Amino acid sequence: MAPSRLLSFVLTSLFIAPSLSITITQSSQLTTSTFDYVIVGGGTAGLVIANRLTENPHVSVLVLEAGGSDQGIVAAEAPFLGPTLTPNTPFDWNYTVTPQASLNGRSFPYPRGHILGGSSSVNYMVHQVGTNEDWNRLAAVSGDPGWAWNNMRQYISKTEKFVPPIDGHNTTGQFIPSLHGFNGEVLCSLPGGNQTIDSRVIATTQQLAEFPFNQDTMGGDHSLLGVGWMQSTDGGGIRSSSSTSYLAQANSRPNLTVLINATVLKLIQTGTSGSLKAFRSVQFANTGATSVATCSGLRTVTARKEVILSAGSIGSTQILQLSGIGDAKKLASLKIPSTINNPNVGENLSDHPLLPNVFSVKGNLSFDGILRDPNQINNAVGQWISSRTGIFSNNVANHYGFARLPPSSTIFKTTHDPAAGPTSPHWEMVFANFWFNPTVALPATGSFMTIVTVVISPTSRGSITLASSNPFDKPLINPNFLSTDFDIFAMRESVKAIKRFLAAPAWSDYVIGPFGDAFSKAKTDAQIEKYIRGLATTIFHPVGTASMTSAKSSAGVVNPDLTVKGAAGLRVVDASVFPFVPSSHTQGPVYLLAERAADIIKAAA
Ligand SMILES: Cc1cc2nc3c(=O)[nH]c(=O)nc-3n(C[C@H](O)[C@H](O)[C@H](O)COP(=O)(O)OP(=O)(O)OC[C@H]3O[C@@H](n4cnc5c(N)ncnc54)[C@H](O)[C@@H]3O)c2cc1C
Ligand SMILES: *[C@@H]1O[C@H](CO)[C@@H](O)[C@H](O)[C@H]1NC(C)=O
Ligand SMILES: *[C@@H]1O[C@H](CO)[C@@H](O)[C@H](O)[C@H]1NC(C)=O
Ligand SMILES: *[C@@H]1O[C@H](CO)[C@@H](O)[C@H](O)[C@H]1NC(C)=O
Ligand SMILES: *[C@@H]1O[C@H](CO)[C@@H](O)[C@H](O)[C@H]1NC(C)=O
Ligand SMILES: *[C@@H]1O[C@H](CO)[C@@H](O)[C@H](O)[C@H]1NC(C)=O
Ligand SMILES: *[C@@H]1O[C@H](CO)[C@@H](O)[C@H](O)[C@H]1NC(C)=O
Ligand SMILES: *[C@@H]1O[C@H](CO)[C@@H](O)[C@H](O)[C@H]1NC(C)=O
Repeated sequence: MAPSRLLSFVLTSLFIAPSLSITITQSSQLTTSTFDYVIVGGGTAGLVIANRLTENPHVSVLVLEAGGSDQGIVAAEAPFLGPTLTPNTPFDWNYTVTPQASLNGRSFPYPRGHILGGSSSVNYMVHQVGTNEDWNRLAAVSGDPGWAWNNMRQYISKTEKFVPPIDGHNTTGQFIPSLHGFNGEVLCSLPGGNQTIDSRVIATTQQLAEFPFNQDTMGGDHSLLGVGWMQSTDGGGIRSSSSTSYLAQANSRPNLTVLINATVLKLIQTGTSGSLKAFRSVQFANTGATSVATCSGLRTVTARKEVILSAGSIGSTQILQLSGIGDAKKLASLKIPSTINNPNVGENLSDHPLLPNVFSVKGNLSFDGILRDPNQINNAVGQWISSRTGIFSNNVANHYGFARLPPSSTIFKTTHDPAAGPTSPHWEMVFANFWFNPTVALPATGSFMTIVTVVISPTSRGSITLASSNPFDKPLINPNFLSTDFDIFAMRESVKAIKRFLAAPAWSDYVIGPFGDAFSKAKTDAQIEKYIRGLATTIFHPVGTASMTSAKSSAGVVNPDLTVKGAAGLRVVDASVFPFVPSSHTQGPVYLLAERAADIIKAAA
C-alpha cells in the first residue's frame, strides 16, 4: 500500500473549499480570444514563464491549466502529506506505465500533477539543481553555451528563497549558504524535525570512508557525492510550489489570465513563415469530458507572438502528436493528419527507477506507530493546522546521498560510463524513518526504516505514443525501466552498497535486517536482480520526449532556444526538453530551465 493509500482519509477529510480569487474556471469567462502569449499547462515551468513574461505590464498572457485550484488543500500544503496527493486522486492524471518487460511485466501508476502548479504542487519537494556536468553536457549536446553551468548558475538567485528551518535550529554545517539564493521566488529549507535515525546517518558518514558527509546536497557548484541534509521546497512548514510562489507573486497583474479546468486538445496551424509552419492557435475545452463530441466549452485562442507548451513530459508530447507533429506514419494509422513529420517526438523517454528497500528495526521510534494509528494522525493534522508544526510540517526524509560505481566495476568493460561527467553520481539513496514501500501495505506490527535507492544515470530509453486520436485517452507510457545491462547493474550495486552502509557501528543496536522474503533472500547477484525486478518502480522524473538538440541537427524535437523544429510561434518549455535526465531530482532543473527560457523568449520579442 502506498503511504498515500494509507493516509488517504486525511486527504479526503481535509478538503477545504477553495477560494478562486485570481483564476477563472470557464472558457465563457474569457473576454478575448487573443493574447500575446498562450501558455499550455500551469505547472512547474509554465508558471515561471507566466510570471516572467508579465513583468512587462504591456504583455498579455493566458495560462490554460487542465487541473483545478491548489488552494485550501491541506495535503498539498503540509509537507509530509505530499505522498498522499497521488496516485489516483483528483490531483493526478492517473497515468500508468505499459507492462514493463524488464520488471516481470508489471504495470504501475505514473503520477503527474493535475492541479495548478502541476507536479510542483504534488511532488515530494526534494530540492536540487543537477550537477554542473549535467548543464555542461546540455550545452555540448545543444551547441548553446548558454545552457552551461557558468551561465545557468545565475538563475539560482531568481528561483531560491532559502529560509530557516521550522524548528529554528542552527543550520551551520548543514548547508553552504554562499551557494544559495535568499531573495528568489520558491521557499527552500532544511529539515525542521528529528527523524530519530538522523544521528545514525550522520555517524555513518564519520565511520565509513565510502560514504563521506556532503555539506550541501543541491548540486551545481558543489559535488553531489556523499550523504547530507535534504533541502526541500517548503518554508514555515508549508509546501512552496510554482503556484504559491511564481503565480502568487504575479496574480495581481491585470494582463495575466489563468484559466483552470481547461484541457488543451491540440494546436492549430495558423499559416506558414518561410519554410516553417506556424502554430499560434490552441484548441481547448472544459475539463471532465471523455470525447471531443461530449466536451463543453470548446474554444480556440490565438497568440499574437507565441504558444508556449509547458504541459510536462507526458502532456506536451501528447499535444504535439495530437497536432500532427510526430511520426507521420504512426499518426496516419490513427487518422491524424501530419503537419510536421518528426519521428523523434515522444521517443527517448528517460526516467530514474526507484527501489524501496525496507529494513526491520528495533524499538518504536520509527514513524510507523504514528502512521498506522488514526488518532495519532488526526492529532498530527490538528497540530499542523493550528501551528504548522509537528511531524507533518517536515518532509518525508531528512537525509539522502549520491554515489558513483567504483571505476573498476566490471560493467565499464562493456558500457561507456553514462554519468553526466566524472564527478556526477550513478545512484542515489534516500533514508526514511518508516515503511515507505509504494506497492506493499504497511504490516500491522513492526518498526521499519526504508532506504530508497535510485539509478541516477540510466541508459534505458522508452517512449510515449498516442493510444488513439481522442485527446481524452491516456497515451501509452513506456519508460522501459531497467532494460539495459548498466541500469540493472547499477541498481544491484546500490543494494549491496546500502547493506554496507547499515553494517556501520552506528546501526548495530538498531537494524534487525532486510524485511520480507524477497529482500532477505537476495544474496547472490542473480537473487538481488530478481528482487529488484519484482519491486522497482519510478521516482517520477520523466524527461527526453521533446529532446533539445543543436539547431542544425534533425534529431530531437526542439532547438537550443526551445523552438519546435520545423515550427514557428511555438516553443516547448518543460522537463521534456532535457535529452538526458539530470543527475538529481528534476524540479529544480526545470525551474532553472524555465527561468532561462523566459529570458530567451523576452529577448526574441
Ligand atoms: C509524485 C511526484 C513526486 C516528485 N518528487 C519530486 C521531488 O521530490 N523533487 C523533485 O525535484 N522532483 C520531483 N518530482 C518531479 C518534478 O516534480 C517534475 O520533474 C517537474 O515538476 C516537472 O515540471 P514540468 O513543468 O515539466 O511539468 P508539470 O509540473 O507536471 O506541469 C505540467 C502542467 O501541464 C498541465 N497539463 C498537462 N496536459 C495538459 C493539457 N492537455 N491541457 C492543459 N493542461 C495540461 C498539467 O496539469 C500540469 O499542471 C516529482 C514528481 C511527481 C509526480
Ligand atoms: C495589456 O497588454 C496589451 C498588449 O498586449 C496592452 O495593449 C495593454 O495596455 C496591457 N494592459 C495593461 C493594463 O497594461
Ligand atoms: C483520477 O482518479 C481520481 C480518483 O478516481 C478521480 O477523482 C480524478 O478525476 C482522476 N483524474 C483525472 C484527470 O481524470
Ligand atoms: C551556530 O553554530 C555555529 C557553529 O557551532 C556557531 O559558530 C554560530 O555562532 C552559531 N550561530 C548562532 C546564531 O547561534
Ligand atoms: C534525534 O533523535 C535521536 C533519537 O531520539 C537522538 O539520539 C538525537 O540526539 C536527536 N537529534 C537531534 C538533533 O535532536
Ligand atoms: C469544469 O467544467 C465543467 C464543465 O463545465 C464543470 O462541470 C465543472 O464543474 C468545472 N470545474 C470547476 C472546478 O469549475
Ligand atoms: C514506545 O515504547 C516505550 C517503552 O515501551 C513506551 O513508553 C512508549 O509509549 C512507546 N511509544 C510509542 C509511540 O508507542
Ligand atoms: C535518442 O536515443 C538514441 C538511443 O539512445 C540516441 O542514439 C539518440 O541520440 C537520442 N536522440 C536524442 C534526440 O536525444
